[in-house]
Amino acid sequence: MSAPHLLRVADLHAWYGESKALHGLSFNVAAGEVVTLLGRNGAGKTTTLRAIMGLLRAKTGEIRFADQDIGQSPPEIIARRGVAYCPEERAVFASLTVEENLLLPPVIAPGGMTLDEISTLFPNLSARRASSGAKLSGGEQQMLAIARILRTGAKMLLLDEPTEGLAPVIVKQIGVVIRALKERGFTVLLVEQNFRFASRLADRHYVVEHGRIIDELSAAEVSGNLDRIQSYLKV
Ligand SMILES: Nc1ncnc2c1ncn2[C@@H]1O[C@H](COP(=O)(O)OP(=O)(O)O)[C@@H](O)[C@H]1O
Ligand SMILES: [Mg+2]
Repeated sequence: MSAPHLLRVADLHAWYGESKALHGLSFNVAAGEVVTLLGRNGAGKTTTLRAIMGLLRAKTGEIRFADQDIGQSPPEIIARRGVAYCPEERAVFASLTVEENLLLPPVIAPGGMTLDEISTLFPNLSARRASSGAKLSGGEQQMLAIARILRTGAKMLLLDEPTEGLAPVIVKQIGVVIRALKERGFTVLLVEQNFRFASRLADRHYVVEHGRIIDELSAAEVSGNLDRIQSYLKV
């Protein structure tokens, strides 16, 4: 028997007003997996995460999480079921300190990480606990945006381009964090354009183009198919 899917998306269509962004997208993520959505700018990756999170209401198709239909649920209900979203724009509050930002998202389920555990995973953040969000570097903001969803008890993390615009040394640290989260049993759906980064982390990859999944590769299939992957991501 194959592993049960924690997240199952089937035939997802989504619209922005009259304009259609997703054209029948289907994929699944098993509990404990790190899965990427790869694809060029405008392919529909962020839209997919926003649709899963309930932030985009103009959609049809099936979205199931932990065996429940969340396709028409509002974001707060989806968050309560255990899905957490770290958006591309990071959305750290500049007027709050690091610690206040960390404490902001409500705890929704037992089993979330404690502040001490978060400090161990993000030593730089812990050193800056009392600094205001406005003073953080891009990398620190990204760390904080991930860190604050780990307290909530969410089991599934939707991460939108966490490495975007960051220096290689920070990208490496984010890789360490995602690996540690997988070891702790989190399930991660990772949107990336940085395939070099994603390929070292993920169990499986889906390629998104024009609002559809056009290919799927397991981690083991990556090394034999680099040209194929390059062709999907090339602009
Ligand atoms: N707020 C919006 N209003 C209208 N169209 C949008 C909006 N956001 C995204 N789109 C369009 O939807 C498509 C998918 O975008 P997006 O999901 O952001 O792609 P990706 O994250 O893969 O770069 C693109 O054609 C984009 O122009
Ligand atoms: Mg995007």
